[in-house]
Amino acid sequence: MFDINYKDILVITLNDENEVQSIKCNLPVLGEGNNRIVYDLGDKVLKVAKTLDDSLINLWEINLFNEIKNRDCCIRFNTIFEYDDNQMWYVAEKIDMKYEAMEETLKLIPCIDCSDNAGYNQDGELTVVDADGLHWTWFVKEDNPYYTMVV
Ligand SMILES: Nc1ncnc2c1ncn2[C@@H]1O[C@H](COP(=O)(O)OP(=O)(O)O)[C@@H](O)[C@H]1O
Ligand SMILES: [Mg+2]
Repeated sequence: MFDINYKDILVITLNDENEVQSIKCNLPVLGEGNNRIVYDLGDKVLKVAKTLDDSLINLWEINLFNEIKNRDCCIRFNTIFEYDDNQMWYVAEKIDMKYEAMEETLKLIPCIDCSDNAGYNQDGELTVVDADGLHWTWFVKEDNPYYTMVV
């Protein structure tokens, strides 16, 4: 058994087979999908993988965020501020989830999972929160084949 922590707020306990035994967190839950539980940190969120396999989605998104952060993007991905060495959790900016944002996103990324995965940041900019299976090039103006059709 071993624990993965975020400050003194979150404790994830895994057994010797690396199976998640429990996730204990005293923050309010803001949202939940098939792979992650998202806790409310106020102006930020704590995204926690439900299993070790799900941590691969966090890793995918950490890499995606690093690829796109200095490029000219047609759509944002939630800013990642901090993450666990095992990618079991990461801290991201809080996004105002909206159905209209999902509709707008589908015009640019038709293959995105369309269940509550986009919203707007504090400046009202379109932002994706779940990039499971999406290559980073979808976010970049010059690489997204739909960008010129939408603007
Ligand atoms: N950055 C965020 N800001 C606000 N809510 C979020 C954020 N990220 C995720 N959520 C909420 O949590 C839910 C689950 O998160 P998501 O990243 O989509 O996990 P999963 O991979 O399990 O679908 C989302 O549908 C959304 O409602
Ligand atoms: Mg999702």
